[in-house]
Amino acid sequence: MSTVYLNGQFIPEEEAKVSVFDRGFLFGDSVYEVVPYYQGVGFRLQEHIDRLAHSLRAVSIKNAQDWQAIMDKLVALNGGGNLSVYLQVTRGSAGKRSHAYGDELEPTIFACCTDIKDVWQAGVDEVVPLKAIVTEDLRWHRCDIKSTCLLPNILVLQQAKDEGVQEALFSRDGKLTEGSACNLFLVKRGVIYTPKRSSEILGGITRELILELADQHGIQYQEIDIDYERLLAADEVWVSSSTRGVIPIVEIDGQQIGEGNKGPVWMRMFTLFSGFQRALMTGSK
Ligand code: PDD
Repeated sequence: MSTVYLNGQFIPEEEAKVSVFDRGFLFGDSVYEVVPYYQGVGFRLQEHIDRLAHSLRAVSIKNAQDWQAIMDKLVALNGGGNLSVYLQVTRGSAGKRSHAYGDELEPTIFACCTDIKDVWQAGVDEVVPLKAIVTEDLRWHRCDIKSTCLLPNILVLQQAKDEGVQEALFSRDGKLTEGSACNLFLVKRGVIYTPKRSSEILGGITRELILELADQHGIQYQEIDIDYERLLAADEVWVSSSTRGVIPIVEIDGQQIGEGNKGPVWMRMFTLFSGFQRALMTGSK
């Protein structure tokens, strides 16, 4: 049985109850974060907290909590191992259903932990490459907000599963944006390419770190528009997220990407990431 956080209290999960009039439940009027902790240490914690602040500001929900204190304590109460923290903030409940809301609402704050694998220390051999499909991006135009309105993401992932693959990539107006819950990268002749940061994609914390590491280690990268032809002609395609790390995609819409295997630039990036994480764990970062 795990301990969760709800509105100021750390309680057993089965005691956590939220009103049926909560706007998160009725309207998806809420935002969230997913923060990995390895051996009790938050991975790029401040960056996650900054992105939560951005999401809250963008939808005018109050942001008056010590997020780090809540997450650190929750992780400790759940054993302090390798865990991801899910943190959701809804606009709250007015005790009735009404699209309009007033200033008096108090946000509902919920957080829980899930076990995760330490992808970075597991080693390259443990990473299983994925196959993907490309689907139409039917989401709204504020994908920079980490909103809990995830129906389009859920439906395309299910479509991928129904077609026997593991991931769905979104395409909007002929340009690839990102994956169902991950950012997108490709490699061509040793250069990394990724869609520009905009309101059409989530500003992924892992994405930022990949670009930072590329910068520091002299790997060239460009933020550009990626169309379908460019995607399929890539030597390597990767997706990235906090919980899954950086994973190669070796087949898209039934067509092999590059050599159909983990590529050398991915291998290098994975190694750089593992090094970064080791430094974080030993306190030298
Ligand atoms: N999702 N794009 C989308 C649409 C995402 O949902 C996510 C992460 C990312 C990657 O962001 P980051 O590197 O900060 O995790 C990109 C989380 C993990 C989720 O919804 O569970």
